[in-house]
Amino acid sequence: MNSPEYDLDAVRSQIPILRTHIPMNNCSQAPQCSATRAAADTYLDSWNEAGMDWDAWIGEVEAARAEFAAFVGAQATDVAIATSVSQATASIASGLDFTGKRYGVVASGGEFPTVGHVWLAQERFGAEVSWVPVRDGMIHLDDYASLIGEQTLVVSACRGYYQTGFKQDVGAIAEMAHAEGALLYVDAYQTLGTEVFDAPSSGADFVASGNLKFLMGMPGIAFLWVRPGVAEQLQPSITGWFGREDPFAFDAQQLDWGEGARRLDTGTPPVVEAYVARAGMAWMRELGMAAIADWDAHLGLHTVQGALARGMEVMGPTDELHEPRAPTIAIACADSHAVEARLRERGIIASARGPAIRIAPHFYNTTDDVDQALDALREVMESA
Ligand SMILES: Cc1ncc(COP(=O)(O)O)c(C=O)c1O
Repeated sequence: MNSPEYDLDAVRSQIPILRTHIPMNNCSQAPQCSATRAAADTYLDSWNEAGMDWDAWIGEVEAARAEFAAFVGAQATDVAIATSVSQATASIASGLDFTGKRYGVVASGGEFPTVGHVWLAQERFGAEVSWVPVRDGMIHLDDYASLIGEQTLVVSACRGYYQTGFKQDVGAIAEMAHAEGALLYVDAYQTLGTEVFDAPSSGADFVASGNLKFLMGMPGIAFLWVRPGVAEQLQPSITGWFGREDPFAFDAQQLDWGEGARRLDTGTPPVVEAYVARAGMAWMRELGMAAIADWDAHLGLHTVQGALARGMEVMGPTDELHEPRAPTIAIACADSHAVEARLRERGIIASARGPAIRIAPHFYNTTDDVDQALDALREVMESA
């Protein structure tokens, strides 16, 4: 594969930072593109010129909800809007009852810390959290089996492990969870935008993601898909007026619930973030997620092979047949934050995380970008 199905030069012309940098940090923050910039400007202009236009602003929030729903093959009524994955997860947790026969949370050791923290915070309410270990940068299905049982209320399994890019088999974990009557929560933040992902057929009951990584957005917004019928089982105590059947009824003494996943909405939604989030996702859907997924897989493999060929140690899966990996390649590195800073001096933006420097190319990168980044990384690591 030499090039993606879309016009790569045209795509690159929409990302101004490519004139001066090679951004390879999508596991952390996407670059700005013309569409997201214009979307933010639309909101700022509206705020400046109209002073207040809640109808249009809420309309855009609803359009972002619908865009996320389309992105994951779902209906807008099954999507809640949050300000972060932490908040979305906490809202779910606050709606679960850990005081009955089911009190267990089986969480993968690959969960982003914030998700682990939310589950641990439920121990005060009767939850008991057990952890599926990470071994060699991967999480093995067999390790779930011994932990999931009739006491399990929820299984928490990220789709992609933020540290190594390892992808978990959501369908297989869902089968195990459901066979024991447990719910499955999936944090897809590290993979949405790199693969075609259909939430309803994934087996998950909850799928959460923010937008600032592979979805080309910014901080301050997250979305939560909830399987139809599951939201109605929750009465979240983390709630707010946008979670009501009619937020504009202004009745403080009435706690009713919005339709579907809307009951997990909370306060005034993140408006400028919704403008930006929609624009990023819409651009990607326009280019075609299948084509983006193919190019991302190609770039990921090129990065793995290039790193190995340069004598670097790749953490997590390295083999071509090992399908499950996001294009986040973790290269073992003693002082990752210093290496990140030295790469930045050379115009390459990578992302340090603990004992690794992560190179995370995305659909706008070329294989030449990857080669340049790896050559620079080798030089920086050798001179350290
Ligand atoms: C997989 C994953 N989940 C969650 C988060 C953080 O979520 P938030 O800050 O939106 O709560 C991150 C990184 O920031 C992440 O990589």
